[in-house]
Amino acid sequence: MSSSSVEPEYLGPWRDRIEAALLEFLDAELAGVPADLAAPLRYAVLSPGKRIRPLLLMAAYRAAGGTSDRVVDLACSVELVHAYSLVHDDLPCMDDDVLRRGRPTVHVRYGVGPAVMVGAALMPLAVQAILRSSGPVGLDDLTTRRLVASLTAASGATGMVGGQLLDLRAEGRSVEPAELESIHTGKTARLISASVAMGGIAAGADEAEVERLKRFGLRLGLAFQAIDDILDLRGDTEKLGKERGRDTALRKATYPGLFGMEEAVSMSRRLASAAASELADLEESAELRDLAGYIINRSH
Ligand code: IPE
Ligand code: IPE
Ligand code: MG
Ligand code: MG
Ligand code: MG
Repeated sequence: MSSSSVEPEYLGPWRDRIEAALLEFLDAELAGVPADLAAPLRYAVLSPGKRIRPLLLMAAYRAAGGTSDRVVDLACSVELVHAYSLVHDDLPCMDDDVLRRGRPTVHVRYGVGPAVMVGAALMPLAVQAILRSSGPVGLDDLTTRRLVASLTAASGATGMVGGQLLDLRAEGRSVEPAELESIHTGKTARLISASVAMGGIAAGADEAEVERLKRFGLRLGLAFQAIDDILDLRGDTEKLGKERGRDTALRKATYPGLFGMEEAVSMSRRLASAAASELADLEESAELRDLAGYIINRSH
């Protein structure tokens, strides 16, 4: 795994393609939608995020031998679910945050009602993004169905939503390592794992390969959330684009909270190495390894 803290140069152009695809998708899907829903929706999706999940999907697709450039359209689907998760995560009834991606959160800017509706509208849009991409990417019906199944399973009660509930329930009390792992797996790692697996599925990877990609994503997803927890203590509000110290204020269950900072840092590295070891059989895994290195070494 790359240990460089600088992100690989090609990520810039990949991100530009993701931004363009998100914009094109929203223009097509939101034509005729009233401005008081369309505006907060665009605000939520198009604000400057790192786009890690679509990048992982695209890298996994290439690693598994996929060749279509239009995979970026499919990659939008995971970013739409992620955007939804952030809008709801920031609500007063959840983490009650006012700053996201360097801007006021959706409910601060537009109100709680519109923010709830933006979240609700984004999930079906994410499925719509998969369906729209299937022609251009050249996916058959079974593959398309598997992609929908993978994304929805990672997003709902068995995935992100379920994990968010566990996260809220754990506020203000101590947890065991196994409970922390299930919180972080549910709220974060499942969607990251699905992003990687979906790249493999779209490229026609066999079952064993998809399983390996899933495991890579689960481990990397845990490492990702461990770093997010670490940055909540060590990061800088301006650079993070979100307020530092919120986990402490909300008494959240976190890696550094449970294990201490030093051990949390080494655990995140061990998780990322364990993730990378799942890639041994993939021919073109350099980009996935680069992304794993970037995720571990990021400062925001
Ligand atoms: C933040 O995710 C929420 C977590 C799951 C920890 P990111 O760090 O990927 O947020 P953006 O998309 O770059 O804003
Ligand atoms: C968020 O975890 C997970 C989801 C949004 C599903 P956090 O609550 O730690 O994310 P941040 O720190 O607010 O970005
Ligand atoms: Mg949260
Ligand atoms: Mg939060
Ligand atoms: Mg956090």
